[in-house]
Amino acid sequence: MEYDFVNVCREELRLCGVHEAEPVAILSADTPDELLGHAAAFMQAAKELGALPYHVRVPAYRGTGSGGWEVGTTPLTGHPAAMTALKEASLVIDLVFMLFSKEQLEIQASGTRILLAVEPTDVLTRLLPDRHLRERVEFAGDVLAKAESLRIEHDNGTKLTYRLGRYPVITEYGYTDEPGRWDHWPSGFIFTGAHDDGVDGTMVLAPGSIIYPFKSYIRTPITLRIEAGKIVDISGELDAALMRDYMDQFHDPDGYAISHIGWGLNEKARWSGPTMDTRGIGQEGRSFYGNVLFATGPNQELGGKNASPCHMDIPVHGYSLYLDDRQIIDRGDVVVPDMRPRS
Ligand SMILES: [Fe+2]
Repeated sequence: MEYDFVNVCREELRLCGVHEAEPVAILSADTPDELLGHAAAFMQAAKELGALPYHVRVPAYRGTGSGGWEVGTTPLTGHPAAMTALKEASLVIDLVFMLFSKEQLEIQASGTRILLAVEPTDVLTRLLPDRHLRERVEFAGDVLAKAESLRIEHDNGTKLTYRLGRYPVITEYGYTDEPGRWDHWPSGFIFTGAHDDGVDGTMVLAPGSIIYPFKSYIRTPITLRIEAGKIVDISGELDAALMRDYMDQFHDPDGYAISHIGWGLNEKARWSGPTMDTRGIGQEGRSFYGNVLFATGPNQELGGKNASPCHMDIPVHGYSLYLDDRQIIDRGDVVVPDMRPRS
């Protein structure tokens, strides 16, 4: 266990409002990876705050799944005893990735708040959140919640419009101190979703766009033609072929839907960060300041019916974004003063 990382976890738990005698559950799976170190650090940090931490460790797979990256199924699926232990906590540290699962929603509904933290220790340390990031993210979330439409533009031919108002706005600023609220350390962005048939236009993914779960930067443009909330054509060279091949394997029409949309506000996160370190699930790429985070596939995270396991997050760099006709981002630079970092 790295003692410096214990200090970082203690700051993070303080931001989460952890207090004396508060039950804090640390959830991990039995995969042989560095997250056991995370569990030990959170355990020590919670103890130092006088809280009552405990570790819930479950099998990663029980021989029924493929073991591939599919959202929606977690090690808690069909494990009611572990669910009971987690709902007894007031904060769960998720080292398993419960996101998009009905188990996560059930734990939240019990009033337990959840912090997901699966990035490497150096990324977590460098991107430790603060209250100012929260203020800026919440301000942006309020502005987004009032908008009726969102538009993305780029001089590469991108013009894509989202009709809003159907789904809530989700804020992620990297810590959580409210009952039942989920967050992800690190982060620093906001998003919502359009009406299910409410996305139309063309999205040209420029070279340098990052595709998750590939964790790679595209080198050749990908042109997506989008009608009534669905991708109807994917064209381009190698990267377009890879994207098509990836999506085709799910044999799921819902995988071609347009998912959440929003933008990044974390100035500590770098566009180039994922060039140096591809461990973790890529929160630095999703969070960097001034990105537009475009996504495809499921929307049940927002309360929608699309539960496709085919989900792609694609942060793009250098685009412009408008809410109704107010410009929010100008070619990768956030132009609203209250969303910008203090200089
Ligand atoms: Fe996503």
